[in-house]
Amino acid sequence: MEQNDIMEKIVSLCKRRGFIFPGSQIYGGLSGTWDFGPLGVELKKNIKKSWWRALVYQRDDIVGLDTSIIMNPSVWEASGHIQGFSDLLVDCKECKKRFREDIVKQTCPECKGALTQSKQFNLMFKTFVGSVEDSTSTVYLRPETAQGIFVNFKNILTTSRKKLPFGIAQYGKAFRNEITIGNFIFRSREFEQMELEFFVQPGEAQRWHQYWIQERLLWYQRLGIKKEHLIVRQHEKKELAHYAKDCYDIEYFFPMGPSELEGIANRTDFDLRQHSKISGNDLSLLDEKTNTKFFPYVIEPSGGVDRALLAFLIDAYSEEIVRGEKRVVLRLHPSLAPVKVAILPLLRNRPDIVELAKNIKNIFPGNYYVVYDDTGSIGRLYRRQDEIGTPYCVTVDVQSLEDKKITVRDRDTMQQERIHIENLKEYLDKKLE
Ligand code: GAP
Repeated sequence: MEQNDIMEKIVSLCKRRGFIFPGSQIYGGLSGTWDFGPLGVELKKNIKKSWWRALVYQRDDIVGLDTSIIMNPSVWEASGHIQGFSDLLVDCKECKKRFREDIVKQTCPECKGALTQSKQFNLMFKTFVGSVEDSTSTVYLRPETAQGIFVNFKNILTTSRKKLPFGIAQYGKAFRNEITIGNFIFRSREFEQMELEFFVQPGEAQRWHQYWIQERLLWYQRLGIKKEHLIVRQHEKKELAHYAKDCYDIEYFFPMGPSELEGIANRTDFDLRQHSKISGNDLSLLDEKTNTKFFPYVIEPSGGVDRALLAFLIDAYSEEIVRGEKRVVLRLHPSLAPVKVAILPLLRNRPDIVELAKNIKNIFPGNYYVVYDDTGSIGRLYRRQDEIGTPYCVTVDVQSLEDKKITVRDRDTMQQERIHIENLKEYLDKKLE
């Protein structure tokens, strides 16, 4: 399959099947915003759940946090975002469109008009708190979730009694007034991040940096992204963010070329030191051996939920010919699949079969998403479930009324197995564990 084709196919599948819609669509949309439909919201939640499980539940050295999107503006002064979080932009003198300097050549890419000198443009969205709209009430929508973690460093330390090395994990919305958006949800203005700030002894930072690059690579692979579709790229000095001493990107081979999925930075003690200085609250720790104060270093794996979602979809997408017909399958890892099980009656005009199928759906107590569907022939129902990545379909037929057995069909192998209804829940629970 051509690489460009695959993006088109994913965009179309996402719209058609209710994964992702353009934001505010009935008003003509708002560029750089997307709405996640019934299947998209499940996939997104499952990605965040898998991340949280790997970082918070399966380890003893990381705790979770959920902080405000709007913070005291001094946070962004201390973090360097007011001064340094900007892109160099140029304007077209003819059509007045604005572009990032690094993506244009001498003339406007749209109308070939002459371009202005470049100038800095801050990427943070501004708004106001309270009833007065002036500089004293200006606040920003957070451009990264990380700062909520740094300003709570001491709160977490005293309440969780963690000792170095330890981490704080948070996922949530972030906002950037990006000038160049595009490639579907790859770069938008409102998106979600999954960020871990891992605090270590300064002398151990390099070792932990390498450790987290490997851990994060393995996370993507365990959830189904093919190893050969991922690469790690070290930032050149000129690419480094203002707070980073060193950074590696995990890149995925997106259809438009290898692009950043997640950045893993060594932020040194930049943030804790800055917040101590600007807030007047000392965020340093005491080294009990030497009785001296020091600031821990921070290793930060920072990934985008939306980018991960796009990569998981692209990597899972496959087309094959089965008995002369095209079958589209999303081979999503079962823990990511939006719908885990679909219950399908073989004959939708037989009330006894429909009733049994609906009763079978009630066996499942809501631990994972199970749907009932009788809106088409069985062939069409299977095709629909394959296309959205449902790992198991359960079919109820005439024979089921007598022997109380149903057929479980595996999405990937298309193998079918006859299972007694009494054993069905345990059978699927085990498969989906
Ligand atoms: N706290 C560090 C930080 O924010 P970043 O590389 O600017 O680092 C981290 O962002 C991740 O957030 C990126 O790897 C990407 O997955 C995601 N991300 C950043 N900007 C984005 C955008 N405009 N749209 C979608 N995802 C974005």
